[in-house]
Amino acid sequence: MRITDIIAHKRDGGELSKEELDFFINGYVAGTVTDYQASAWLMAVFLKGMTRQETTNLTLTMAHSGDVLDLSDVLPVSVDKHSSGGVGDKTTLIVLPMVAACGIPVAKMSGRGLGFSGGTLDKLEAIKGYRVTLSMDEFKATVQKHGIVLAGQSGNLAPADGKLYALRDATATVQSLPLIASSIMSKKIAAGAEAIVLDVKVGLGAFMRTIEEAKALATLMVEIGQGAGRRVVALLSDMNQPLGSYVGNALEVEEAIQVLHDGGAPDLREHCIAVAAHMLRLARKNDSPYAMSEGMAEAAGTLKNGRAFAKFREMVAAQGGDVSMVDNPKLLPKANIVQTVTATRSGYVDQLSALSVGVASVDLGAGRDRKEDSIDHAVGLIVHKKVGDSVTAGEPIFTLHANDQHKLEVAQQRLETALVYSEHPTAALPTFYDTIMSD
Ligand code: URA
Repeated sequence: MRITDIIAHKRDGGELSKEELDFFINGYVAGTVTDYQASAWLMAVFLKGMTRQETTNLTLTMAHSGDVLDLSDVLPVSVDKHSSGGVGDKTTLIVLPMVAACGIPVAKMSGRGLGFSGGTLDKLEAIKGYRVTLSMDEFKATVQKHGIVLAGQSGNLAPADGKLYALRDATATVQSLPLIASSIMSKKIAAGAEAIVLDVKVGLGAFMRTIEEAKALATLMVEIGQGAGRRVVALLSDMNQPLGSYVGNALEVEEAIQVLHDGGAPDLREHCIAVAAHMLRLARKNDSPYAMSEGMAEAAGTLKNGRAFAKFREMVAAQGGDVSMVDNPKLLPKANIVQTVTATRSGYVDQLSALSVGVASVDLGAGRDRKEDSIDHAVGLIVHKKVGDSVTAGEPIFTLHANDQHKLEVAQQRLETALVYSEHPTAALPTFYDTIMSD
């Protein structure tokens, strides 16, 4: 087999066989396929697309390009969740303890944020001492003892995706459905997931800007999962405005704790209860018509009876974190400058740009533009109004938490156009747009 023939086959719109995909991907990971050949292949895929069978084969090849975790010795069933990334998305911090509190052990590997999209590991590191780097033995021992573990990736999972993702970024080939779907699903399969809840964000602050695009991606990922023998559900959730009210690492931990105490922003609570209920349904292989409503009641119950908070606290303690910060979020890292921005006019919130809020949080130092950038856990912002809310001139709309006057001014300027007012009442945005199930 020759690599140039494989590139030409895709360039001419052909369907690549499993053998051709194996040859290409394994060669790229081994270094016998060069970056310029892989770039040409990526552009051919971007322009010509892939069939469902090709995308499934590509996913499986990428999933098996490195270690594939087997968690069957420590988990009765491995249920995972994945968010396609957004602003204010602290769902994992809330949902994992909820599911564990319902008696389903959960072992999750999460990532860091890049650009305006936050990452769970960065949020966890706002808690002093929390260890996100665990050996495989520690990872397994922690879930076995506590029924919950939340850490960074250990092992060499899906290295083909790591290499290809960096190349896609540099060759304008990120926005391709088969490439995004295979990238996400290969990592989940390599991490040992048997059942997966995919949270596909749609809107101005997401990869997928329209419901049609998001639905196409979600359907493809559900089909790939099904083809690979996994139980998968994809939720299409709103990312036109931030999820919840707090954006920034320590601030998001604080808001997660509010929800775990049965409070917090209603959209965030609703979102977490639904994701948890789907995880419970998949883990229990419960396809009864009542499974979702029962799961939602059970998940919501863990917030009311304090069991989800207790699980979160147990997880933080087990991973070396300072539980006094969990018991008293005032002890989380705090910024020196706290400034409130008020409404310049009265009316209703018509739009609240997740993108502008996310970029403003990066301006303040809460996120990173490049992988190697360091972040400030204390900074970020709170949004006081969401789409559909009424506003009176002079009311607070944002509270910015900054450690640098210049960064504060840049973020403040960025936020000037983040909120669009209407004279007339506006409808609140839905939390979810659609659900796509494999079963
Ligand atoms: N997230 C991923 O992991 N991969 C993509 O290609 C896009 C989003």
